[in-house]
Amino acid sequence: MEIIIVESLEEAGEVEAKRLARIINENPETVLGLATGSSPLPLYQAMERYVSGGLNMRNVSGFALDEYIGIAASDERSYTATIEREVTGPLGLNPELVHVPEGDAADPQQAADRYEAAIKSAGGVDVQILGIGSDGHLGFNEPGSSLASRTRIKTLSQLTREDNARFFSTLDEVPRHCITQGLGTIMDARQLLLFAQGATKAEAIAAALEGPVSSRCPASVIQLHPSVTVYVDNSAAAGLELADFYKYIHRNKPDQSS
Ligand code: F6R
Repeated sequence: MEIIIVESLEEAGEVEAKRLARIINENPETVLGLATGSSPLPLYQAMERYVSGGLNMRNVSGFALDEYIGIAASDERSYTATIEREVTGPLGLNPELVHVPEGDAADPQQAADRYEAAIKSAGGVDVQILGIGSDGHLGFNEPGSSLASRTRIKTLSQLTREDNARFFSTLDEVPRHCITQGLGTIMDARQLLLFAQGATKAEAIAAALEGPVSSRCPASVIQLHPSVTVYVDNSAAAGLELADFYKYIHRNKPDQSS
């Protein structure tokens, strides 16, 4: 894992937007795994500047991590609407190539199975963009999730519902269930890119990056992935025992340009 401690996620967004622009220029049919929430926004905003500067993302495919069950896709609080508003529209993706699990399907488990199949037939995810929940969730894989899980229905934890209540008028309106890519699904992506900011993420980040690999902290599964980059701001890094070492590694990164 490459763990990079930054002053702000805006700084991380700039670096990664540049890298993603290069990847997309080399392979215009890149498949991105898309997280919603606050953490990836600086990246999406930085990518928007590359798109304004000529980067063509029309042939890029996107697969969202998750969707609520119980609210219509047309509802502005759905992740379908959020991805359209924050990613598909601003980055000029072809809506037909952007997928979100169908949380309002008559049979959500069948919808989850179709989603797995769609990811496979797109050739798998090249770069999976991730945030982390304050309870250590990845996607909406809450504590106790199987590390080998595939896309399926999950129950949201009370902490996750409270964290996401900011998008709803009352806590009671926050859905209790979702469809989420499984941890096994996420781990199949060729590269993982995780962003975390703020003190509320410090405990989860310490458990995910330095704790045991365990379903107690689902995000800890990324320790088993061969290509992971994690950006944390100073507040989210506050619980990392090896923070100084990560900074040292980053300052002394071998030059691989020649
Ligand atoms: C979002 C998702 C979640 C969020 C996590 C962090 O699609 O799957 O795992 O990434 O809840 O959310 P923010 O970034 O809003 O703190």
